[in-house]
Amino acid sequence: MSDFLKVSRDGDVAIVIIDNPPVNALSLHVREPLKQALVELRDDPLVAAIVITCAGRTFVAGADITEFGKPVQQPELRAIIATLETIAKPTVAAIHGTALGGGLELALGCHFRVADASARLGLPEVKLGLLPGGGGTVRLPRLVGALKALKMIVSGAPIGAEEAHTTGLVDALFEGDLTTHAVNFAREIARKGGPFTPVRDRDDELKGTNLAAFDAEAADLAKKARGLEAPVACAQAVRNAVTLHFDEALAVERALFVKLVASDQSRAQRHLFFAEREAAKSPGKDPVKRRIARVGVIGAGTMGGGIAMAFANGGYPVTLLETGHEALQRGLATIDKNYAVSVTRGSLTEDAKRQRLAQFTGSTDYADLADCDLIVEAVFEDMAVKKEVFGKLDAVAKPGAILATNTSYLDINEIAASTSRPQDVLGLHFFSPANVMKLLEIVRAEKTAPDALASVVDLARRIGKVAVVVGVCHGFVGNRMLAARGSESEALLLEGATPRQIDQAFTDFGWPMGPFQMGDLAGLDIGWRNRKARGQTAVIADTLCEQGRFGQKTGRGYYLYEAARTPVPDPQVEALIRDKAAEQGIAPRAIEAEEIIERTLYPLVNEGAKILEEGIAVRASDIDVVWVNGYGFPVGKGGPMFWAGLEGADKIIERLEYWHHRTGKDVFNVAPLLRRMAETGSWEGAAAA
Ligand code: 3HC
Ligand code: NAI
Repeated sequence: MSDFLKVSRDGDVAIVIIDNPPVNALSLHVREPLKQALVELRDDPLVAAIVITCAGRTFVAGADITEFGKPVQQPELRAIIATLETIAKPTVAAIHGTALGGGLELALGCHFRVADASARLGLPEVKLGLLPGGGGTVRLPRLVGALKALKMIVSGAPIGAEEAHTTGLVDALFEGDLTTHAVNFAREIARKGGPFTPVRDRDDELKGTNLAAFDAEAADLAKKARGLEAPVACAQAVRNAVTLHFDEALAVERALFVKLVASDQSRAQRHLFFAEREAAKSPGKDPVKRRIARVGVIGAGTMGGGIAMAFANGGYPVTLLETGHEALQRGLATIDKNYAVSVTRGSLTEDAKRQRLAQFTGSTDYADLADCDLIVEAVFEDMAVKKEVFGKLDAVAKPGAILATNTSYLDINEIAASTSRPQDVLGLHFFSPANVMKLLEIVRAEKTAPDALASVVDLARRIGKVAVVVGVCHGFVGNRMLAARGSESEALLLEGATPRQIDQAFTDFGWPMGPFQMGDLAGLDIGWRNRKARGQTAVIADTLCEQGRFGQKTGRGYYLYEAARTPVPDPQVEALIRDKAAEQGIAPRAIEAEEIIERTLYPLVNEGAKILEEGIAVRASDIDVVWVNGYGFPVGKGGPMFWAGLEGADKIIERLEYWHHRTGKDVFNVAPLLRRMAETGSWEGAAAA
């Protein structure tokens, strides 16, 4: 019928096959023939039942996201579903892979859904700053109940076929050839005879809805939304499914969708969706990848333990190496404890825990790393120690093994040069806790071979990381920009702001926490050691460290942590700040949130522009991926570089110039690329200008 849609017959059952690689998105070129096919099959007396299925790796994974923001072209998905619901003969969606967003909504337009036992089903629109716009909020509750639909739609997390079957979303599960099973299922149903009730006309599941419990859950979810509009709209739309007539609820869903799709938040989240996928592509042409079957990790401290877990979780056997038996046992015990916590929380079974632990081999002998294809070093942040470790690795690692360092700041070119194989050396900068945090900065050193780089980009995806390739500079992309963001923190404190007030400005912006709370969480001693190594000082942070206030781990930092992890403002810290300010002759003044943002986030953007200009990051969107996945930059603002466009580059430049004039500090010295961005209106335009 078309390149993207075929119809075949198996006796009196028609099979509609959508074939729009890679994920069978409902692009216009699918919608047009699909609607036409459904009308024809509806009116064809020789057809007793219709099965909708997909070619390739998955059922429909949603609307075509690239069409959002452009004029809507008919037929819309809603019209296709409405057509489906005019069909009196049984319609069956046969789901394999994933049925997501508009894909699941299409399936909800059918009378029945059957699925491969390994399929996953969900409405992830909220992750794009949207709500399901094809009737998902109104139909899903009719099958699984309002509370379950609320949780699925607000979280956007898909459920497995098994759960979908138990909750009533799927009518039958099959293993083996799904289309054959679906056809038999459809034929059998047709033989039994109708009438077949469309999902829109089923309200049994809605009748018993406890609205008070629903509202309590929705209020809880809204609190976690931290200023995002989509989760709130999702909850409202699902509630409407219970309280309004079907068509009314559908109309409100549509109105909310239209509003959200045009919002900055959704634009930002869609930008991130594509940015993450773009960042994960190997730079340059795709070389043959090196085989990575076994991983070595050196250092079983905070990072080494987490990195080892990240690989074990991804199915890789890991050799974990430490300086001595005691340190090794401590590291392994921490890993054991972390898995035990996951079991207690219910996110891991005892069996899975045993399997993961069986992946680890502990060692204190470098010779045991000889069979590793990738070795990640996570020892102390000290160039001499790192060089010593790489010297030993050079002696024992097999030819072609990739040698990676997890250094936060050190010069990887220098580390690479200390080996006889700099082409195999690169940076794998994980974030803490490394088994949890998604971001991985992959640092390409001057001599890193393209195939080594491509191999770790591929590996990152296999272990579920969001990878961004960056170049060598002090702190790479993330930590270098973090330094720019934090450079005014001390000045703001000395001039009159409190840690709480600054952190509040950040959380109001949408960050999960502010810089001082984050410093306390990460440990203030890390920055202290780094400053000392570079001959730098920060009067307040240094004094806190001298007093043994390293943050949460010592129960005291910028805040007090008496009860677990809740930060409590500490009058002693505020007195310390006032004393230090007085010593410097600074009179405290009131500082507004706007000034806090200007002096922290504008330098962040400015540093990003410098990084882009130097080629340390390849794309502005890569920087956004780093900041959203590694540092908690609010997703609804799309990352610092995307946000710069929302905020207005002109405005940012004007305020940077003001602060540069006032302080003379380099972080406010406007990057030429930022000026070109203001002129051309985009980072791509700025780079090309
Ligand atoms: N529209 C357009 N392109 C899409 C797409 C979509 N819905 N989903 C994926 N793609 C593209 C990706 O951009 C990527 O393109 P590239 O190769 O050029 O970079 C390619 O398909 C493959 O995607 P992944 O790399 O993500 O492939 P995976 O196999 O890792 O994952 C997936 C597959 C789980 C389906 C994942 O792609 C995914 O989660 N997709 C988005 C699903 C989604 O959000 N659906 C809802 C859309 S909104 C909607 O339906 C609105 C409706 O309610 C009206
Ligand atoms: P850590 O102090 O917790 O762990 C370091 C471990 O390395 C210790 O267990 C130590 O015994 C071991 N070690 C030291 N020398 C060794 C050697 N020669 N051979 C084998 N083991 C040796 O330190 P952490 O925090 O894990 O940091 C490790 C590296 O990761 C550093 O380069 C750091 O900059 C980097 N990093 C740290 C992050 C963090 O948040 N802690 C985040 C990202 C990177």
